[in-house]
Amino acid sequence: MASWPTKRVYDKAINEWGQPKSKITHLVFTTISGVDAPGADFQLIRLLGLSPTVKRMMMYHLGCYGGGSILRVAKDLAENNKGARVLVVCSELNSVSGFKGPTETDFHILLGQAIFADGAAALVVGADPDMSVERPLFQLFSTGTRILSYSNDMVEGHLRQTGLSISLCKDVTKTISRNIGKCLEEAFKNIGISDWNSIFWVSHPGGPAILDLIEVSLGLKEEKLKASREVLSEYGNMSSPTVMFILDEMRNKSMKEGKATTGEGFDWGVLLGFGPGLTVETIVLRSIDTA
Ligand SMILES: CC(C)(COP(=O)(O)OP(=O)(O)OC[C@H]1O[C@@H](n2cnc3c(N)ncnc32)[C@H](O)[C@@H]1OP(=O)(O)O)[C@@H](O)C(=O)NCCC(=O)NCCS
Repeated sequence: MASWPTKRVYDKAINEWGQPKSKITHLVFTTISGVDAPGADFQLIRLLGLSPTVKRMMMYHLGCYGGGSILRVAKDLAENNKGARVLVVCSELNSVSGFKGPTETDFHILLGQAIFADGAAALVVGADPDMSVERPLFQLFSTGTRILSYSNDMVEGHLRQTGLSISLCKDVTKTISRNIGKCLEEAFKNIGISDWNSIFWVSHPGGPAILDLIEVSLGLKEEKLKASREVLSEYGNMSSPTVMFILDEMRNKSMKEGKATTGEGFDWGVLLGFGPGLTVETIVLRSIDTA
């Protein structure tokens, strides 16, 4: 794992944050690509030359909602440990699960090979930013998680002798679109927002059918899921890092197009992660002024 070709991802995140590596106090790492000891967190500390006293946490085998879960955990760590700076890492080698050769008799292998892709992302989460040296991009305002279905086979990922075997049930799309309104109402009820076109959207794409049905069921304007669609079409469904690619796409495009905030000019936004269970992670975001 130490030779993962993604060191530059982590270096880029730390460089953009602009602070010395010695200021990283915590590391939270998620992956569905393997289980090992010592873990990928240990290997990364060595690879990046971080302090051996960094407090580490591995979140193994969450799957596609992992990008939301890891931000929820990082927020709690940052807000409850004064001065904490948490390096958040999502790294997935989904090609390993597809490394079986296509077979017409196993639809799920074919489906997995068609939609999943490799990817890695990293960012730094902290509370009370030092505005003289740090430049926040989004605020993680509040977090929530909900099990939508207690089914074992809605989205599955099992480690077998042949590697990771993933299968997706046909009903995933319908289950998400039927319940997503409830998740949003819970998340925004204390803020007083119920117009889903008045916020910016960072939705894990899952597959195009999921985005299509969310759009229809909530009456979203076409542009709302544009960043999610662009990342899906450029990079595929990378599981946990996908939402971070969407955040990156959104803030870059917002700045390039001269929008007032990092969230396409909107103040409030939502980040959604979907995955095994079926589980949904919902994070209410606030954008930051670009001026
Ligand atoms: C898989 C997918 C990309 C295919 O898209 P598409 O090529 O536009 O095709 P459709 O969605 O119309 O599906 C084509 C057929 O495959 C079937 N199908 C789709 N997903 C299926 C699944 N998981 N299991 C079994 N059949 C499935 C559809 O019912 C349809 O069958 P029909 O022709 O008999 O009506 C799309 O269905 C999708 O995005 N699904 C969601 C993927 C998902 O669950 N991701 C979650 C990961 S977190």
